[in-house]
Amino acid sequence: LKTHQPYRTGYHFQPRKNWMNDPNGPMIYKGLYHFFYQYNPHGAVWGNIVWAHSTSTDLVNWTPHKYAISPSQPADINGCWSGSATILPNGKPVILYTGIDPQNKQVQNMAVPKNLSDPFLLEWTKLSQNPLMEPTTINSINASSFRDPTTAWQGTDGRWRVIIGSKIKRKGLAILYRSKDFVRWTKAQHPLHSGKNTGMWECPDFFPVSINSSTGVDTSSISKTLKYVLKLSLDDTKHDYYTIGSYNREKDTYVPDKGSVDNDSGLRYDYGKFYASKTFFDNAKNRRILWGWINESSSVEHDIEKGWSGVQAIPRNVWLDKSGKQLLQWPIAEIEKQRIKPGHMSSRELKGGSKVEVGGITASQADVEISFKISDFKKAEVFDESWSNPQLLCSQRGASVKGGLGPFGLMVLASKGMEEYTAVFFRIFKRQTKYVVLMCSDQSRSSLDNDNDKTTYGAFLDVDPVHEKLSLRSLIDHSIVESFGGGGKVCITARVYPTLAIDGEAHLYAFNKGTGSVGMTTLRAWSMKKAKIN
Ligand code: FRU
Repeated sequence: LKTHQPYRTGYHFQPRKNWMNDPNGPMIYKGLYHFFYQYNPHGAVWGNIVWAHSTSTDLVNWTPHKYAISPSQPADINGCWSGSATILPNGKPVILYTGIDPQNKQVQNMAVPKNLSDPFLLEWTKLSQNPLMEPTTINSINASSFRDPTTAWQGTDGRWRVIIGSKIKRKGLAILYRSKDFVRWTKAQHPLHSGKNTGMWECPDFFPVSINSSTGVDTSSISKTLKYVLKLSLDDTKHDYYTIGSYNREKDTYVPDKGSVDNDSGLRYDYGKFYASKTFFDNAKNRRILWGWINESSSVEHDIEKGWSGVQAIPRNVWLDKSGKQLLQWPIAEIEKQRIKPGHMSSRELKGGSKVEVGGITASQADVEISFKISDFKKAEVFDESWSNPQLLCSQRGASVKGGLGPFGLMVLASKGMEEYTAVFFRIFKRQTKYVVLMCSDQSRSSLDNDNDKTTYGAFLDVDPVHEKLSLRSLIDHSIVESFGGGGKVCITARVYPTLAIDGEAHLYAFNKGTGSVGMTTLRAWSMKKAKIN
């Protein structure tokens, strides 16, 4: 490993070295959190995939263990790809994962703990019956597009169900299998759901959410007060999309709510980088937790040089918004234990063209919360109805482009002379009698090194700025900036590689580059303690 490592994170999950991609089989067992991930033991690029394994008592500090699953059987000899854990009613965990067989076909396998009294679950035994599901000429499943089993759920008939991501030509599929004993699986006639012209559905996730509370529910829960979420990772665009809908238990089909679409114009967990995500139900704290992989925005050469690639987002609590139309996401409360040395700023008016430094914290490893109240909307520019693409709007109107109401927000990982900064901000536009809020994460000035992907991200935020405060939280960790707008209505994660704004040289500012002034009602920032990770 290179000795100078300004981009390694202080409190985001990553292995000590090499390549990491998808989160796999997250679960809680005997009060201990387990996390597995796609890992290359031999380098900083994708390949030789095994399931690496770590455990934690708080989802923040992690202990590494030996690989849980690595190629050993014909059914997985060419790779142990993504999969999920299911906790059976007797408390026993089982893992379903995709194996790559000697013909490079994608098949589904099962592994069970060797010793259930070991809370660390160090040893996993693969079933001799593997593969349990495989593409055949009879079922006409595409052998190179059949992967990533979900957590299974049990129906009222006692049978288990699981879905596997697939496609037929351009049609994305969630192939459904059923089983009485978890070992012998039968493919259902119809997929749980399919989508026209989306391409391959990777890493599906299917889970219930409560209609009237933020409490999480077990994947097999049956109740009238549930909605369902189907998440797909679209291989074509490398984004995670989800819909909210109903699960028809008679037909075993999922029907997205009206207006909810599972394609490129649908809802995303994150409007920056966030892929191959998966949730699990934490029965110790009755919450549903989301893990997502954040890849690098640097070149492959850069990854090889630094000796690693990939981090995981801070696990997020997910629940249904009151509107029923979208999910809310918020970093797990445990991460707040890392907060040290608070730097507060009393509420004040942020005049147009002003910028104030948030001092007294380690700005390269921090947690910041800021909120705004707007009382004067006269300066808001008129929204153009042709602006249907918020990301494009954010890139055309980056942080350096002066507006009416906005841009205002945070400049993070900024160098002293502002040669480098990442800007996370809002703009407010007038649309007839209402207002439209745009949230952006602008990476265009994040680094003087032009070898990185500095794409700007953005989304519209469903907040009414006349009656509600406008809040933003950013988790800053050397090369990652995870931002949450409107209390978790919009999340945007970015990877950045400053050359000047590193470690003690990084600064943090609140800014307003619009002509209209905005009220900054709160600003709280903390340095973050380094977590013990692997
Ligand atoms: C998603 C993915 C999965 C596959 C795994 C292989 O990133 O391509 O579909 O199982 O990664 O590492």
